[in-house]
Amino acid sequence: MNKTWWKEAVVYQVYWRSYYDSNGDGYGDLEGVYQKLDYIQSLGVDVLWLNPCYDSPDVDNGYDISDYRSIMPKAGTMATFDKLLSAVHDRGMKLIMDLVVNHTSDQHSWFKESRSAIDNPKRDYYIWRKETNNWRSYFAPSTWTYDDTTGEYYFHSFSKEQPDLNWENEKVRQEIYAMMRFWLDKGIDGFRMDVINLLAKLPGFPNAENPTDISYLGNNPGIHEYLQEMHDKVLKHYDAFTVGEIPFVSPEDGLLYVGEGRDELNTMFHFEVCDYMAHWDMQRFKQIQARWYEGLWGKGWNSQFLNNHDHTRVVTRFGNDAEYREQSATCFATLIHTLPGMPYVYQGEEIGMTGIRFSSIDEYNDISMKNKYAEEVGKGRDPEEVLKELQHLSRDNSRTPMQWNDSPQGGFTEGKPWIAVNPNYANINVEQALSDPNSIFYYYKKLIELRKRNEVTVYGSFTTYLDEHDQIYAYTRTLGDESWLVLLNISEQHATISVADCGVEKLGEIVISNYAGRNNQEKVMELQPYEAVVYRV
Ligand code: GLC
Repeated sequence: MNKTWWKEAVVYQVYWRSYYDSNGDGYGDLEGVYQKLDYIQSLGVDVLWLNPCYDSPDVDNGYDISDYRSIMPKAGTMATFDKLLSAVHDRGMKLIMDLVVNHTSDQHSWFKESRSAIDNPKRDYYIWRKETNNWRSYFAPSTWTYDDTTGEYYFHSFSKEQPDLNWENEKVRQEIYAMMRFWLDKGIDGFRMDVINLLAKLPGFPNAENPTDISYLGNNPGIHEYLQEMHDKVLKHYDAFTVGEIPFVSPEDGLLYVGEGRDELNTMFHFEVCDYMAHWDMQRFKQIQARWYEGLWGKGWNSQFLNNHDHTRVVTRFGNDAEYREQSATCFATLIHTLPGMPYVYQGEEIGMTGIRFSSIDEYNDISMKNKYAEEVGKGRDPEEVLKELQHLSRDNSRTPMQWNDSPQGGFTEGKPWIAVNPNYANINVEQALSDPNSIFYYYKKLIELRKRNEVTVYGSFTTYLDEHDQIYAYTRTLGDESWLVLLNISEQHATISVADCGVEKLGEIVISNYAGRNNQEKVMELQPYEAVVYRV
């Protein structure tokens, strides 16, 4: 397997609007990220992924872009962006931007022109039809919205304010490639590509048998030609790193996007865990990992993450954000940083931030949740019940502001934050984490350092043990003479295991562990709730 810098890298995701507000307007901003770079660097991460900061009416928090080549005023200016980029580089880190090219905002000048007349030269930049079909969109009951001006419907995979671009149109593709070159020429190091497997549409838009399974939106004929063209026209001319957001994908299909030599993407996010496993399910998780390892190892590179700006924070969703918050946070961190694939840290994860439960729909901001709420309540359902149903997976769970210290608003802003700060900021915050040598933060830092110094965590092969066990995930990573055994008790109960059942005669030194008092002389071990321990063997 060939070695590259990005296979060895750890990515830190910065949802800038919730990171740090430098000017008191209630929104985090690029200047705020700039001011916190020492903190980010101290974690040891290599790459920053910046969520979209392009000009946007902000219906979907920047994923509805109205101008690809300018910075949203809430985020700052191009001058601040340039300053941030060079400061990231000065620190030896890299910066990747979100590339959102499946759709634009309905306020993009292209769409304004496109909707103005059937014979407008930009009409064909988007997808217009006289007839609709029965498809659901991510954020709306239909993928089609009727437009009065010309009496036709346009297509949108997300909200009606996010019309899909028509990738069949060569001019659209050229515009996008030119825009990508604009950012790469500025010196950015690559892209996280938003729903990149949605670009090609199913020919003829046939009705779906089961419209609620929206997988018809992705992986359609032509997608690989587009990505190979993008690689050929843009990416191959730069040392650009790319990670694709790829929903509805099997390992076999995943390999078509990230297979070495396919000249498409470097790595990808699949959503078998985050989209389809609402609560922790050990057997299912093990099977997912096994299939993806089998499908990709030696052929293409995977990514590992358990939360991001779209998915409820890991301790709240899969762990225990009360009694075992620290243990479950560090246990899942050990998991993500020792499985095969690139680890991603979503801001605040490194201090064990938790999800939220706002008491009224008005306190939520997430368009996906709000639209779903309106739809369900519109059917006559009890609003309280609908709210409860949507709270657990609301995207706002992970979008509340970063908690810096115990001062008002968690030190995030001097103004009124765009979304409420989690009231637990008094106890869970960066200042507290940095002052406690046993904090979650230092555990992450150690995991990241270990990765830097031990190629086995990157290139080591993966073998699992105790596959039937519902609490314990046990596996080795092996590279040459080096082998590590990872033992994780992903549960709130104690679990007893015998070391011999993990294919190991004798344990070597402990590499990292999240409970004090473990040693390497044990033959039978009783693992504590959410205990994680890694041994050399
Ligand atoms: C991706 C983004 C999400 C956004 C959607 C539409 O899934 O991560 O935040 O709403 O695409 O662009």
